[in-house]
Amino acid sequence: MPVNRMVLNETAYFGKGAVDFIADEMKKRNFRSAFVVTDKELVECQVTGHVTDVLERENIKYGIYDDIKPNPTIENVQNGVKEFQRDKWDCIIAVGGGSVIDTAKAIGIIHKNPDFSDVRVLEGVADTKNRSMPVIAVPTTAGTAAEVTINYVITDNENKKKLVCIDTNDIPVLAIVDSDLMKSMPTKLAASTGMDALTHAIEGYTTKGAWELSDTLSLKAIRLIASNIVNAVKGREETAIESMGLAQYMAGMAFSNVGLGLVHGMAHPLGARYDTPHGIANALLLPYVMEFNADSTGEKYRFIAQAMGVKNTDKMSEKEYRKAAVDAVKKLVKELALPSTLKEINIPDIELKQLAEDAHNDVCTPGNPKKVTKEQILCIYQKAYSKDNNVSEGDSKTGINKTYSDKSINPADSPQKEI
Ligand SMILES: NC(=O)c1ccc[n+]([C@@H]2O[C@H](COP(=O)([O-])OP(=O)(O)OC[C@H]3O[C@@H](n4cnc5c(N)ncnc54)[C@H](O)[C@@H]3O)[C@@H](O)[C@H]2O)c1
Ligand SMILES: [Fe+2]
Repeated sequence: MPVNRMVLNETAYFGKGAVDFIADEMKKRNFRSAFVVTDKELVECQVTGHVTDVLERENIKYGIYDDIKPNPTIENVQNGVKEFQRDKWDCIIAVGGGSVIDTAKAIGIIHKNPDFSDVRVLEGVADTKNRSMPVIAVPTTAGTAAEVTINYVITDNENKKKLVCIDTNDIPVLAIVDSDLMKSMPTKLAASTGMDALTHAIEGYTTKGAWELSDTLSLKAIRLIASNIVNAVKGREETAIESMGLAQYMAGMAFSNVGLGLVHGMAHPLGARYDTPHGIANALLLPYVMEFNADSTGEKYRFIAQAMGVKNTDKMSEKEYRKAAVDAVKKLVKELALPSTLKEINIPDIELKQLAEDAHNDVCTPGNPKKVTKEQILCIYQKAYSKDNNVSEGDSKTGINKTYSDKSINPADSPQKEI
């Protein structure tokens, strides 16, 4: 077996009421003050208050930075660094979704590694020398697992690009996964962020770098998500919301250490160019990319289908279980009432070629289990554009693979000749 590396938080707490442990953990580390990074909506709907109440009760000095938008920008980071440096702080507490936690990570890294303050140089595997300012991450969505990953994603508006930054120096020291902070998510946000978590679990399970330990975490995450997402989103059941918090974290433990794939590679350009919410982009693209990857995943789709609750997968042929895994994901997207075509989210079809170019260059794309060309990515975007848009006939038996065969990837042959 090759040597494999796992980088995780020093400490993590899970479950309702876990925020109360922040104060003790801060004391243990001798942190007497905190720079709280959050966003305006979370302050307004009193989600941030769950954490600041604890700090006030314990007389811990804190300041707040909340100038962060979803799909956070370089400016959000640079303004945050300026705010942070106005005073002296012992740690950063990030209270929010992936956008907030990612911004907090970037602020912590740049403060300790000022050579990287233009942010763009942090893209890819960053060569920082110093550990970040200690970050305590408190997620308020159950999706990105940014609290346990060594990644952060910042949007470069000038170059219309999402910068995926990978750096072990950014791992938060403490993660607090408290379902009380996730309960207020509106239905669509809970559904889309949950599908981001499922995408992490499936891409983390099938990515090139996956191995036994990451597979165990990814599969368990798929199982937990499949059995809890609908009850968490539609039923608003507390135990299901709690399980989603745990599941997204497990998926994060895996993918952070082994990588992702083409779904994320194709979702990032949608976020960068059209501000598409990350979970919406992933939920929409996941089935199409799964179809494309199917023939490069060995027996793994059998276990994905099983974990998604499909019965009798043991008796299924390769074609059948591959189709069953994709269908189970499609069914979930439908049940959660999320968009399933790019047309529905108003992506202009004349831009698909540019998107394919961007996705081909994305940091996540090389992790895909199947090597992919720009033309094949364009073909997948075309297929995802509209259900009526049959890029090619495909294999009538499987509906898989042949659709993306080299023959079908010449854009001149496709119905969208203008692309
Ligand atoms: N670091 C990583 O490993 C990683 C992984 C995947 C995605 N990401 C990045 O994370 C970002 C997406 O993060 P996200 O999906 O968590 O959403 P988000 O942080 O962008 O939040 C979306 C919106 O939901 C609101 N919100 C968050 N929690 C809420 C709650 N409990 N109640 C009510 N409203 C709430 C926020 O205020 C915001 O307006 C993207 O930029 C994506 O690229 C990072
Ligand atoms: Fe993601």
